[in-house]
Amino acid sequence: MKIARATTGGGEKLYIETYGCQMNVGDTEIIVSIMQDEGYEYTRNIDEADIILVNTCSIRDNAEQRIWGRLKEFQRYKRAKRSLVVGIVGCMAERLKEQLLEKEPIVDIVAGPDSYRDMPKLVQAARAGGKGINVALSQEETYGDIRPVRLDSNGVSAFISIMRGCINMCSYCVVPYTRGIERSRNPETILREARECYEAGYREITLLGQNVNSYRWKNEQGEVCVDFPRLMEMVAAVAPDLRVRFATSHPKDLSDRLIEVMAAHDNICKAIHLPAQSGSTRMLQIMNRKYTREWYLGRIAAIRAAMPDCAITTDLIAGFCTETLEDHADTLSLMREVGYESAFMFKFSMRPNTYAARHLADDVSEEEKTRRLTEIINLQNELSIESNRRDVGKTFEVLIEGHSKRSEAQLCGRTSQNKMVVFDAAEGLGAGNYAKVVITDCSSATLFGKLVKE
Ligand code: 5AD
Ligand code: SF4
Repeated sequence: MKIARATTGGGEKLYIETYGCQMNVGDTEIIVSIMQDEGYEYTRNIDEADIILVNTCSIRDNAEQRIWGRLKEFQRYKRAKRSLVVGIVGCMAERLKEQLLEKEPIVDIVAGPDSYRDMPKLVQAARAGGKGINVALSQEETYGDIRPVRLDSNGVSAFISIMRGCINMCSYCVVPYTRGIERSRNPETILREARECYEAGYREITLLGQNVNSYRWKNEQGEVCVDFPRLMEMVAAVAPDLRVRFATSHPKDLSDRLIEVMAAHDNICKAIHLPAQSGSTRMLQIMNRKYTREWYLGRIAAIRAAMPDCAITTDLIAGFCTETLEDHADTLSLMREVGYESAFMFKFSMRPNTYAARHLADDVSEEEKTRRLTEIINLQNELSIESNRRDVGKTFEVLIEGHSKRSEAQLCGRTSQNKMVVFDAAEGLGAGNYAKVVITDCSSATLFGKLVKE
């Protein structure tokens, strides 16, 4: 029996917009869970909102500029409903703290990534006519006991956060300042969430963290009893038809043991996102990445030796401080050498307070950054097409996610390598089923195929 308890929400409607990475998407699902427990109702319709929250990203300046623009647009909702509460949560809240309240008077709440349990209290403070602010970072908070409310899920793939924060201190990156110190979540709660997802029909789980390879859970004696490879084995054992993925890995921590575990389990997907950031050892050193180009290529060779069919994807930054044409050429040649399946590619954006902001000059012009980024993007397009062409004629097991965007007569789903495949629908096949598909054609972003009759 559920025991009724006093809640503060009283059916007020909560609307949340989420920007930035998958971690933020997961955090939004945690906030909604906390607020629903307090009697608030989630809405997708901003016009009926009593509370608007924006879960923000600070990784590059343009991410923050977008949010400032969005805040201006909220003024009209506030004019229409005087009692409306507007809150900024997440990385930008953590970075700017009180300054947000000073710069933008429509903001009532500022909450950093470790203060979401406090959200009902912050709303009450705003309701009482004040401002609600909590930007304390924690060394322990993992929200391990909270069951996220899955919001924009396709019912097939779910993300499970296994750790928070980062201590790597890459010199360009604001994340250690906005998300705090690295901490791992209790593996029991991770497994419980994975099992619940499976029982609810999910067939793919992505374990999430800023640097999942450094996941470690210690027992009461302070000894590491579960590391990341062990955690992967435990989650893979939940069910043989539950796929397991992870993001993101730091190359410096990608161990042989993890590669072994991936290779040994059919349901661990053969895809690794391994951000290189640059192909130049000199740049990697200035970026404080703690590996060289050769070392990175050594890791790629180890992955390929154990799993020749493993997809490798990456993140790249163009125009970091002091980057020369030679450094940039090293990035292009690294891309060719690895042959990435796909990549996230960015222009360097100087972030306040980072090591780069304190010690380095942002000395590559905007124009030159754009030129280098365009070269990187063009090359990646070629590599992606080449990679997709290599798949034509091969057969893959595809986990179906639903109908394709273009047509009800077609299904779409992903290969273990995380490539999207579109193929003709067939009786009895739908979201959450596996299908064997032979690839007949491709574009740069999609594979096209047909079902293999068994
Ligand atoms: N400028 C540009 N890109 C950045 N990233 C992180 N910080 C910056 C920055 N200041 C990129 C990195 C990281 C990804 C999440 O965002 O490539 O892997
Ligand atoms: Fe930022 Fe580096 Fe940590 Fe990634 S590993 S979040 S790039 S500091």
